[in-house]
Amino acid sequence: MPTPNLSIAKMITALRHEINEHSYRYYVLDDPVISDAAYDKLFHELKQLEETYPTLITKESPTQRVGDVPLAMFQSVSHDVQMLSLDNAFTEDDIVAFDKRVHDRLHSEALIQYCCEPKLDGLAINLRYINGIFHQAATRGDGATGEDVTENVRTIKMIPMTLRGKTLPRLLDVRGEIFISRQGFEAINQAALSRGEKIFANPRNAAAGSLRQLDSRITAKRHLEIYCYGLGKYDGPRLPETHYDILKQISDWGLRINPLIQVVQSVPECLAYYERMRTQRSQLTYETDGVVYKVNALAEQEKLGFVTRAPRWAIAHKFPAEVAYTTITSVEFQVGRTGALTPVARLEPVNVHGVTISNVTLHNMDEIARKDIRIGDTVIVRRAGDVIPEVVGVIQTKRPTHTQQIVMPTHCPVCQADIEQIEDEAVARCTGGLYCPAQRKETIRHFASRRAMDIEGLGDKIVNKLVDVGWVHTVADIYQLKQSTLAALERMGEKSAHRLLTQIEKSKHTTLPKFLYALGIREVGEATAKHLAYAFKSLEVIQEASLETLQTVPDIGPIVAEHIVHFFKEPHNRKVIAQLLRAGIILEAIKTSSDLPLSGKTFVITGTLDGFSRDELKAQLEGLGAKVAGSVSSKTHYVVAGDNPGSKLAQAKAFGVKILDEYALVKLLKS
Ligand code: IVH
Repeated sequence: MPTPNLSIAKMITALRHEINEHSYRYYVLDDPVISDAAYDKLFHELKQLEETYPTLITKESPTQRVGDVPLAMFQSVSHDVQMLSLDNAFTEDDIVAFDKRVHDRLHSEALIQYCCEPKLDGLAINLRYINGIFHQAATRGDGATGEDVTENVRTIKMIPMTLRGKTLPRLLDVRGEIFISRQGFEAINQAALSRGEKIFANPRNAAAGSLRQLDSRITAKRHLEIYCYGLGKYDGPRLPETHYDILKQISDWGLRINPLIQVVQSVPECLAYYERMRTQRSQLTYETDGVVYKVNALAEQEKLGFVTRAPRWAIAHKFPAEVAYTTITSVEFQVGRTGALTPVARLEPVNVHGVTISNVTLHNMDEIARKDIRIGDTVIVRRAGDVIPEVVGVIQTKRPTHTQQIVMPTHCPVCQADIEQIEDEAVARCTGGLYCPAQRKETIRHFASRRAMDIEGLGDKIVNKLVDVGWVHTVADIYQLKQSTLAALERMGEKSAHRLLTQIEKSKHTTLPKFLYALGIREVGEATAKHLAYAFKSLEVIQEASLETLQTVPDIGPIVAEHIVHFFKEPHNRKVIAQLLRAGIILEAIKTSSDLPLSGKTFVITGTLDGFSRDELKAQLEGLGAKVAGSVSSKTHYVVAGDNPGSKLAQAKAFGVKILDEYALVKLLKS
């Protein structure tokens, strides 16, 4: 081993100094003057020299950040000056009250200067430097005693191992927050996932987990960061007289402070700072959970002192939390107005973003399976802005031994009808459409609508009232309404009651397609209702039709067929239909298709029409006995051409097929 001469030692010292200066410019000033490659070159040079002259290696050398022997355990460290915490404030009133307490204690009426700082969500650390050399790092622990994490903190490159400056304090305890960026957090979780390990719930846990590693080689890979925000024990040259100037001094020593820190002159300015930080929050590379206001003058801080664990001169103004943890106590199934069943979790009430949440929708069974949610689980609940609260995920590590699986009920929790769950469909539904109280209003509104039973005057408002007062439970009850009862309804005179009754009476004369459509069977729209009616001609036949028979009808596939079968299988629905017929509903006889005006004619539609959608026109033509085909052939009788017709128009011309524009079409339909 060569014996180092004085110039080698000097060279090494100079290299270390140069490297440290570049680290300072990079991490603290965020203003590097050399490229990463140039930095690596210097680092490599130093490393080689140290390898050649190992006696010159010191612990503070930038090459010595990562040790190679894991610790057996963390030693405890008692803090010479207690590591305080902060009181929390959530509202502007809390801040006004804080400022008043400060004024009262100081017997002062003058405005108080505050230093405003972002409050980072990480963990507090005490860094001890003796004569400018990094000596020890300890976590906050209970404020009096923490854990010695010196070796791990040494791996954090933005923390200097030697301080900058000429006159350095004999002893300096700097306090700050160790945290991890959002990006660093994602990277850790990605890596954990790829190894099949557990992931961290948030950046704070990731930072804490990374710092509390017995093997500092693991910590070294975690990209931990720091912002310093204050001092502990101090023995050195006289300090400046304000908190802000102390932070500047800390930064001059080579430690990193947050560039967003600002001094303000009053409470309104504090609140404006809060608003600025709150809106900037999502653009920061790290998570913040609020801002901290600190009385800036040290003399005033001293006068104010502290109580148990928090200073009287500082307060944390928290941002509303967007996520919170709570447990699922039970799951209920709610029946929506269209019969869809939605699982809703009942939660141990929890405050999220300023609002107490005690229920949260779980959407559907697929979502529950995907997130593996069970009753008894601890879950993360999120509520951002106006967005409805949601379960982000389950904290698997908190899963108790006895959780309960969430199962879809077989019967509707409201009306006891069977639940229909169609394969490949996420949503399960109650089949008691005509009877189920949960679906009442929607069913009645649809039944009365223009294209269904066409009961003019039976709009949403009246339906709501009739249901709310309990006079109408099912659509059959509409036909039992009396003039006297209707007239007694709020804001309904004798005249309008009479008018409505006339309309109800008139609606009794209808057609089978309209009636079928009015029943509100799932996915049975006007066109399908028409197809059903023309195929089976009678309600009785449709009620008894099997899945297979139903599927012989154009437009009806296995799913729609299942909806129809389930609907008519439900005894309550049948009962309501029987009541309707007994009330005097008359369904016009269906003409056989050869009687229909357009029977035997084939139509093809191309382009867009003003007055009809494709489906509407198709249903109308088919209702008149026509066939609507998808392509033009020599057998086509008419091509209906709207705006921007496709190639079918040219084909029609080629085949010599009659072409109808919208005007000619309407004329034909009317005739
Ligand atoms: S000052 C004497 N300033 O918040 C006051 N704390 O809830 C001691 N924190 O334990 C803390 N950013 O870990 C202060 N700019 C900041 C902070 C901050 C984050 C953390 C710190 C403290 C906790 C209190």
